[in-house]
Amino acid sequence: MSEEKSILLEMRGICKSFIGVNALKGVDLVVREGEVHALEGENGAGKSVLIKILTGLHQRDAGTIRFAGHEVSFTSPAQAQAAGIQPIYQELNTAPCLSIAENMFLGNEIKKKSGFIDWKETNRRAKEILKDFNIDVDVTRPISTLSAAMQQMVAIATAVSQDAKLVIMDEATSSLDDKEVSSLMDIVRQLQAKNIAVIFITHRLNEIYEICEKVTILKDGEYMGCYDVAELDKLSLISKMIGRDASSIVNFRKEFNEDLKNSTAICEFKKVSDGDKLKGVSFELNKGEVLGLAGLLGAGRTEIANALFGCSKIESGEVIVKGTEVKYRSVNDALRDKIILCPEERKRDAVFPDMSIKDNITMSILKEISKCGFIDRKRQEEIVEEYIGKLKIKTPSGKQLIKFLSGGNQQKCIIARGLCANPDIIILDEPTRGIDVGAKMEIEMLIQQLAKENISVIMISSILEELARDCDRVIIIREGEEVGELLSEEITEDNIIQRISEAHAM
Ligand SMILES: Nc1ncnc2c1ncn2[C@@H]1O[C@H](COP(=O)(O)OP(=O)(O)O)[C@@H](O)[C@H]1O
Ligand SMILES: [Mg+2]
Repeated sequence: MSEEKSILLEMRGICKSFIGVNALKGVDLVVREGEVHALEGENGAGKSVLIKILTGLHQRDAGTIRFAGHEVSFTSPAQAQAAGIQPIYQELNTAPCLSIAENMFLGNEIKKKSGFIDWKETNRRAKEILKDFNIDVDVTRPISTLSAAMQQMVAIATAVSQDAKLVIMDEATSSLDDKEVSSLMDIVRQLQAKNIAVIFITHRLNEIYEICEKVTILKDGEYMGCYDVAELDKLSLISKMIGRDASSIVNFRKEFNEDLKNSTAICEFKKVSDGDKLKGVSFELNKGEVLGLAGLLGAGRTEIANALFGCSKIESGEVIVKGTEVKYRSVNDALRDKIILCPEERKRDAVFPDMSIKDNITMSILKEISKCGFIDRKRQEEIVEEYIGKLKIKTPSGKQLIKFLSGGNQQKCIIARGLCANPDIIILDEPTRGIDVGAKMEIEMLIQQLAKENISVIMISSILEELARDCDRVIIIREGEEVGELLSEEITEDNIIQRISEAHAM
């Protein structure tokens, strides 16, 4: 091991209460120079509040903070930034119409003697800063033309150019795809090489094992300790996060359902093409089966979901549902056949943020629960209560606006919306993306429950571990075609990886 680096940040005994919520109960966070430090905990554990106290957005009730050798108490984010603490927000505060360079120097403009902005110098400096991170873009383009990940990277490069000693990434990777995540990881490594420390908050535990040296764990505002990542296996990490032994869940493996051998197909794809990404894909889905779709990004998994759910046009081939060929012209046709989809882009495609949980859950069954054009409020409430209980949705009431729930609880509401329509087939596209480890496991257990109730599940996930735990069968999709299949015991993370790479070598 290398010699211990000196301490950069030392937060001790931090306490913070809001009305009715004891958000932090004596939390420590000690980060060394150039260290990548994970801050972990379920939703509501207090991670963001701790960061907001550090960056001067909230004031602490008790505790001390030392940064770069001095006792500090920032009263505004600007003060914290001036000291070298740079938070990178998930929802970046950019001015979308302004250029990349303008955004980089917003509030910090380079001016000529005359007082006017020196555009030539601004663009030159911007280019230079980005080049340092191997980002080669035209800095005069509007920033909105960059992907979310690139915008994050620009923000990081900018932060670093302003003498950052500590960069904080609070769930910065949750909306990124795998490739974008990996470029962001490279940037984090570069920060480390420049001796800049990083506090990294993520729900994807693999990322912690990939780049973090230390992890501090919070649970319901309590400090659960700080550990060397190399010495804390995943099971122990999860157990500390959820506050109980997680082995039964982590070591869970679906028992193969013997009945499936004699089961009939509820749905069949025969050489289905959509004239675009799908190029003649064929497979069967059996009753009560959990079928996983594995493949690289862009392999056509989401397109299969869309084709079955009536969201895309089928150019050739046949989709057979319950023995009859179907040609869905809209989502309503699919719903009538009791097929539902919980989409990948939950925020964009499924959640109505300014509506209540109740209205979000029951929106697709309003007709069924209405009499003479009036919603049967009592029935509606019964249904909502039933699903809040069944799916353990954490909320004070069904009247709460859905936007105030954590990602995991929002996802449960979207699944509840599907389930209250009594589906025969449910398609879950990346059901655990962006949600915390506790909610993730609850959703995985729910999938098993659905299969037991004889509902057929199509599960799309880029987390192969999940497919291996939860599926009866996994098919490998490559460039819009089915190129392989794994059954029951064969389904392991390694086997899936191997099949995917074999498929790509073909
Ligand atoms: N401004 C606020 N007012 C009241 N309660 C808050 C506020 N910010 C956070 N909380 C509460 O503090 C707790 C910790 O929240 P937070 O730090 O956001 O959790 P997370 O670990 O998911 O980032 C939660 O119970 C949350 O509801
Ligand atoms: Mg948070």
